[in-house]
Amino acid sequence: MADEGEGRSEAKRPFPRFVADRPHLVEDAETALRLGKHVLLRGPTGSGKTRLAETLAERLELDMESVNCSVDLDMEALLGYRTLGLAEGKTVVEYVEGPVVRAMRLGRMLYIDELNVARPEVLPILHGALDHRRRLTNPLTADVIVAHPNFCVVAAMNEGYAGTSPLNEALLNRFVVFDVPYVQGDALAELIREATPSSTLSDAVVDRFVRLSADLVRASDVGELPPEAASIRALLDACDLCAHMPAMRAVRYAIAGKLSDPREQDLVMEIAASYFGDA
Ligand SMILES: Nc1ncnc2c1ncn2[C@@H]1O[C@H](COP(=O)(O)OP(=O)(O)OP(=O)(O)O)[C@@H](O)[C@H]1O
Ligand SMILES: [Mg+2]
Repeated sequence: MADEGEGRSEAKRPFPRFVADRPHLVEDAETALRLGKHVLLRGPTGSGKTRLAETLAERLELDMESVNCSVDLDMEALLGYRTLGLAEGKTVVEYVEGPVVRAMRLGRMLYIDELNVARPEVLPILHGALDHRRRLTNPLTADVIVAHPNFCVVAAMNEGYAGTSPLNEALLNRFVVFDVPYVQGDALAELIREATPSSTLSDAVVDRFVRLSADLVRASDVGELPPEAASIRALLDACDLCAHMPAMRAVRYAIAGKLSDPREQDLVMEIAASYFGDA
């Protein structure tokens, strides 16, 4: 499944499985889904939420339907739409199922990305599907859709970014919540090796990237850098580039360059210089 936010390098990168530095994250999220709960993954951009949802779908052997709650998400994008078709030479009104209806009917995982940027009036349509009733009345057909036993929802949200709003309590209440912070330490080293197999990064260079990441996370925790400065997506991009150019250039393009404030860019480069010098 493609993530709309992903760039070209990620499309070319062989997808690594989700790697966690918290021992029970994947197993516990899987258990929650097996128990019929819906799961909300909460974490900053590039922390692997979409990858984790894909990993959970693989582990549960479920196909996935996705919706992205960008501002123009409306009822049709969730439930489907009516269109004109031909049947036995006559024009008829046909109903084309949307992802929510398909997931409920066929017992798939529904992945709802960027849950907290949805317009507040749209998601309440899903309340009945997400609680013990596991059903919704489709306003387009007046059918009552009863969810297949395998139907489950994994949603993802970034907290605290522009354009996002606190989640409606009633909606949040229907999920079991898992935090997905940026992976660190040995697990990050493992991920760098897995995600950049074609590169020839030495153990020493991988170790420097792991320590650079720890410093970026710390700087964003104390507010010196925005959370996205420590994005693992950006770090993996830098590791990819680093196999073909000096590390400082790779960090400039893949990490510092994404920040809008020049002072923040300088701070990233200063931290990187402490590990890579002029390399
Ligand atoms: N813990 C992790 N395990 C495996 N891959 C990871 C992990 N963290 C980040 N990645 C990699 O980083 C990239 C971005 O991950 P992903 O798209 O899942 O992030 P996200 O949290 O969904 O970001 P966004 O909030 O911007 O949608 C992918 O290439 C993914 O494989
Ligand atoms: Mg995502």
